[in-house]
Amino acid sequence: MCDIAIITGATGGIGKVFVEYALRYELAEIWAIARNGQRLSALREEYGERIVPIPADLSTLEGIETVQALLRERKPLVKYLVNNAGIGKMGAYHEFSQEEIIRTIDVNCKAPVLLCHICIPYMASGSRILNIASAAAFQPNPYLNLYAASKAFERNYSRALHVELEGNGITVTAVCPGWVDTGLLVREINGKPVRFPGMVTAERVVKRAFYDADRGRDMSICSLYGRLQHLNVKWMPQRLTMKLWMRGIHAYGYGQPVK
Ligand SMILES: NC(=O)c1ccc[n+]([C@@H]2O[C@H](COP(=O)([O-])OP(=O)(O)OC[C@H]3O[C@@H](n4cnc5c(N)ncnc54)[C@H](OP(=O)(O)O)[C@@H]3O)[C@@H](O)[C@H]2O)c1
Repeated sequence: MCDIAIITGATGGIGKVFVEYALRYELAEIWAIARNGQRLSALREEYGERIVPIPADLSTLEGIETVQALLRERKPLVKYLVNNAGIGKMGAYHEFSQEEIIRTIDVNCKAPVLLCHICIPYMASGSRILNIASAAAFQPNPYLNLYAASKAFERNYSRALHVELEGNGITVTAVCPGWVDTGLLVREINGKPVRFPGMVTAERVVKRAFYDADRGRDMSICSLYGRLQHLNVKWMPQRLTMKLWMRGIHAYGYGQPVK
């Protein structure tokens, strides 16, 4: 049986680094998933034949079925499933089209759950699921509302699934980085360069995520800044954490001045 890792969003800022780190493990193949086939082929050219490019739109059931069909055909042992593909943007609730709302929920919530569901039968004791949530999962974030709520879903789903799978020796790690220096981030809002307090590199997130997953931990936070943030939201009333968040984003034209 062939040992594999499945990595979604494999061509993006964090996903590509997940691929690079996964190549250090004794895995026969890395199944790399994203929509853009050309970027997937470039990944294979760069990293070699262990990369299996799988072009699939994970917001659709067809995309999930593409992965399921390959699992049925090849019957691999899935050692790592990294649910990393994710989308999000800042904005007031009315600035999102229905299509954007549905797509965000489909990519950030539905796809990771379905991929866990179809991959677990191909896992064994010692297999690891890494679901890339976010520090945005720790609290409600106005004007990043949909993204933060979708990540809270992913974090809670992951931690509860970790408990459900305890008896099987399969672990689930909710990876919760703060700002990460990738193409996902919008660098300027309303003409103002955006500040990203506590921003880390994708390398730091991925290194810590594999470290925590390999130790069977159900959460991974890679920086001291992130751990302090996590601690803060445990004791602060959410109304206060939201007020502090609003104070940070008011400079970019979101919401009313916060006193
Ligand atoms: N950057 C941050 O500050 C940050 C912080 C915390 C958590 N995160 C989380 O980390 C993960 C990766 O973020 P990133 O910053 O690396 O993002 P990114 O650079 O924008 O990469 C996103 C990846 O997801 C793929 N993707 C997007 N929509 C897809 C779809 N419908 N089906 C299949 N693949 C899709 C993209 O490839 P295609 O476009 O070719 O499909 C790309 O490979 C996300 O879940 C994000 O929420 C990011």
